[in-house]
Amino acid sequence: PVRVLLDVDPGHDDALAILVAAGLPGVEIAAITTVGGNQTLEKVTRNALAVATVAGLEGTVVAAGCDRPLVTGAVITDPETHGASGLDGPVLPEPTLPLDPRHGVDVIVETVMAAEPGTLTLVPTGPLTNIATALRREPAIAERVAEVVLMGGGYTKGNVTPAAEFNIYTDPEAAHVVFSAPWRVTMVGLDLTHQALATPDVHERFRAMGTRAGGFVVDMLNFFGPAYRAKQGFDSPPVHDVCALVRAVAPDLVTVRPGHVDVELHGQHTRGMTVTDLQGRQGRDLDHLVATDLDVRRFWDLVTGAVARLP
Ligand code: BDR
Ligand code: CA
Repeated sequence: PVRVLLDVDPGHDDALAILVAAGLPGVEIAAITTVGGNQTLEKVTRNALAVATVAGLEGTVVAAGCDRPLVTGAVITDPETHGASGLDGPVLPEPTLPLDPRHGVDVIVETVMAAEPGTLTLVPTGPLTNIATALRREPAIAERVAEVVLMGGGYTKGNVTPAAEFNIYTDPEAAHVVFSAPWRVTMVGLDLTHQALATPDVHERFRAMGTRAGGFVVDMLNFFGPAYRAKQGFDSPPVHDVCALVRAVAPDLVTVRPGHVDVELHGQHTRGMTVTDLQGRQGRDLDHLVATDLDVRRFWDLVTGAVARLP
């Protein structure tokens, strides 16, 4: 099985990523850690527990991590896209899982260090605060994980500013730490995730399941779709975070290119930009992987198939 640790800020697309991971045979969720992002830490943690309940993930560790960026200011949330709760739309069930009493960063360090080397993949889909803090606390995690496959950034565009994507924009210093560590990072950014649009036919596939999980996804899309249309002008919403999960567990579905990513920390107009070198300018090592193309049909077959396996 592929073992993943999901570091999330649910968030509609984070929530769908959790459901898909739970429904895929051969994928084991080692732990779920939460980080302040789409909403406050308290709200996204509550959402994570509710989604884990819908997914039937009893027994899975869920722990709350960092509540604000590493260096600058308070958490930057996005209520326009994800609502006041961070997961508006579905009625959230009372969680049937307890919150693990440990700090999320401790859970990341302990889970990585307890795993056999090269067997655990980190899939961060929120601001990178927890992952950066875990690296500072235990640098040895860098050689122990199999890889890091994150949703964030982009090589041609942003979505908060013209240059910067939300997960990087909201904690650029943390992103800098993560991209600079000696491990393999795959950037699944907006260039890739804007190919994963939950079009009306996809919506209908979830509706036709007639299950609790399928209904939960429909209720999420009924909020997320119109919110995305109003804020970003999309006909159908992109399910960003699911793309990172899919690259981690079914790499054939996401084409990557070697590149080198620097996170802009100081630009007047470009703070949080993932400046991506795909050519090896100045003789630089192309030590990251950058996602470029999605096999859209197989992606949705995998995603809907996984959700269809849930109760
Ligand atoms: C990213 O920001 C959040 O709104 C989503 O959950 C996703 O992780 C997209 O820019
Ligand atoms: Ca997210």
